[in-house]
Amino acid sequence: MHHNRRWHHLETPEQVALAAYQHILDAAERAIADHGTFKLVLAGGSTPEKVYRLLADTDADWANWVIYYGDERCLPANHADRNSLMATEVFLNKVAIPEAQIFTIPAELGPEQAAKQYRPIVASALPFDMVLLGMGEDGHTASLFPGHVHVKEELTHAVYNSPKPPPERVSISAEALSCTHELIFLITGANKQDAVRSWRSDEDLPVATIVPKNPVDIYIDSDACKP
Ligand code: 6PG
Repeated sequence: MHHNRRWHHLETPEQVALAAYQHILDAAERAIADHGTFKLVLAGGSTPEKVYRLLADTDADWANWVIYYGDERCLPANHADRNSLMATEVFLNKVAIPEAQIFTIPAELGPEQAAKQYRPIVASALPFDMVLLGMGEDGHTASLFPGHVHVKEELTHAVYNSPKPPPERVSISAEALSCTHELIFLITGANKQDAVRSWRSDEDLPVATIVPKNPVDIYIDSDACKP
């Protein structure tokens, strides 16, 4: 079977973050040179957080970056477990991206309302320039979980019964996440080994439903890909 994936093997999570960071900056320069903006979808998780910390110390063309989120937890807007709070504190508050260019998912409104309000925002953003994603140990990505059924054509989904708390979330759909020029997966930690193996053997996991036209770049540390 044809694999549209490029695996970048690195030793540590820090090296994964650094490689992804450099890739993101290059992608931003290319996008801005090509069409004036860089539309970037952020992910939650501890590996992306390392990337955001590196970005926060960088001098980039921030005025032309536009920020979206792949998923969000339905919690109050300033809750410590919101992906948006993490990204804001470690990255967005420290760089000069105009506030009007940061599109947070209004997940405090609940899954249904928030997914509905975020849909036209995604619609007008597509195609994204770059999407960042992590992967959970069950092979979930964004808030697309194994066994969950969604309307495929929707750009965003209301998510209930997440196996990982909180149970209510909002996620950009696999189809919309795949509508991007570039896409990076950040995968670190020994608890990912089984899911990585399943993914490589083409099992039916949420990560495997993310299939952009261009190859995806997977940055992975040595703990996550031990045999
Ligand atoms: C969630 C988390 C989580 C995270 C992955 C990978 O959906 O509750 O955001 O799924 O993205 O577990 O995270 P790490 O980079 O921390 O391994």
